Order: sequence, then C-alpha cells, then structure tokens
Amino acid sequence: MSQLIKTAEDIEGMRIAGRLAAEVLEMIGPHVVPGTSTGRLDSLCHDYIVGVQQATPAPLNYGGGGGRIPFPKSICTSVNHVVCHGIPSDSKVLKDGDIINIDVTVIKNGYHGDTSKMFVVGKGSILAERLIRVTQEALYKSLALVRPGCRLGDIGHAIQKHAEANRFSVVRDFCGHGIGKVFHEEPQVLHYGQPGTGMELMAGMTFTIEPMINAGTFHTKVLPDGWTAVTKDHKLSAQWEHTILVTPTGTEILTARKEEDFRFLAT
Ligand code: MF3
Ligand code: CO
Ligand code: CO
Repeated sequence: MSQLIKTAEDIEGMRIAGRLAAEVLEMIGPHVVPGTSTGRLDSLCHDYIVGVQQATPAPLNYGGGGGRIPFPKSICTSVNHVVCHGIPSDSKVLKDGDIINIDVTVIKNGYHGDTSKMFVVGKGSILAERLIRVTQEALYKSLALVRPGCRLGDIGHAIQKHAEANRFSVVRDFCGHGIGKVFHEEPQVLHYGQPGTGMELMAGMTFTIEPMINAGTFHTKVLPDGWTAVTKDHKLSAQWEHTILVTPTGTEILTARKEEDFRFLAT
C-alpha cells in the first residue's frame, strides 16, 4: 500500500535508502570514461548494490505484467538523445563527447531511494554542457520552493520557466513520483504547470523530482525494446533526479551527494 505521509520509522528507512542510492552514483563516476560500455557500468553498480550495500536494484525485472517486458538490467543508462529508461548493453560503448544519465534506484529494508545524474564522457560540446547545467539548475530551483503549503504546480512551473527561458523544452511523457515502500506511487510530479495549482505539499511526504529537458522539442517515442525513450527529433536530452522529504520548514534531500552544496535551500 502506498501512503502519502510517512511515519518517523518510514522516514528513517528512506534516509538510508536515499544515501545508498547517492553512494552508487558517487562510486560509478570515475568509471564513466571513453571506451567503457553501459553494460559494464550496469554490472559495476549491480555488484556494488548487491555485494557491498546488501541492497536490491529496483529496476531489475521491474514493470513486467500486462504483456510488458520487465526491465532487464539494474540501472538505467540514457545516452545523448535517450530521454530515460535506456537499457545498459555491452555493445553500447561510450565515446568522447557523449552525455549519459545514470539512474539508480535501490531498495533497502523495503524502502526505495531513487536518484540520477548526468555525466559528460571526456569533453562535451558547449550545447551539451549548457543543457546539463540548465537542467540541474531547473531541479535546484524547484527544490528551493519545497515546503508545506507549496503546490505541485509551483514546482512544475519553476522547472518549465527555467527550461523555456533557455530555449529548451520540458518532456511531458514522464514525471516524478511519490516513493516509499512502493517505487512509483502517488502523487505524480509534473515538470511543467501553473503556479498555485495542484496538490498542496505536507510535511512527511516523500517524492522525486526528475526533470527531463530537451535541446529540441519535448516529443518522445519508446523504441521497440519497450523501454528506451528517445527524443523524436534525435536532439540531446538531459535529466537529474533527487528523492526528497518535505519537512515542517522546507525539504531534506534524501539522495544528496557529497559534491552538492544545498546551502541555498530553505532549511
Ligand atoms: N528510476 C526511474 C525513475 O526515476 C524508473 C526506472 S524504471 C525501470 O522513476 F524499469 F526503467 F528501471
Ligand atoms: Co524516479
Ligand atoms: Co530514477
């Protein structure tokens, strides 16, 4: 069962799962270099999650049923024009100038931590670097708004405004989500919208914000593998994701990495 407001015990479990997910991204960074395959990144993350963290990679075999193909790997690796849900493969070898989103979700003691970040392989183009930066800025601008009384439309609007001010577009086909003992639960967290609309945030809610921003139009399509979402125009896409808790005064970033500075937040 999914539940909107988490208990103190749930929150402690979410802190642990969130930290583990962040630590996987910290671990994998040095391995994201030209010549490495996304299949190798997957197996390194899988072994770390299972062997070191004694946790479970949530994507592995996720989302089957109803005729759908379950996700076959332990992380998502989305390269260049792949928007999200890229399937790692030994034949997908990273080359200089590629950009890649690595999306990690771990389950520890029944709780989920879900987070992703962008990496540049070698040296990226000016456009790629700008798209990645603007997407992270959009996530951070939304995080700065989170507190009780803020509404989901305020979050979506902040992201959309920053993306479009930079002549990029916001993907509509995928959204953030409530998270806890259930991977994807209510509410849906859209990355576009109108201020003052949508659900009002309450202390104890845990959800993800995970904007996907495109260099071209926002349209996407899913490849015949049933998972890989790509931009229709084959232009670049970037994404950053955190799992967060709404606190009485602001937000706690459950998947914060050491490299991040969150002094701009309300609390
Ligand atoms: N981690 C993704 C998210 O942010 C979901 C991946 S589901 C998978 O919600 F099956 F593709 F792994
Ligand atoms: Co997510
Ligand atoms: Co994710």
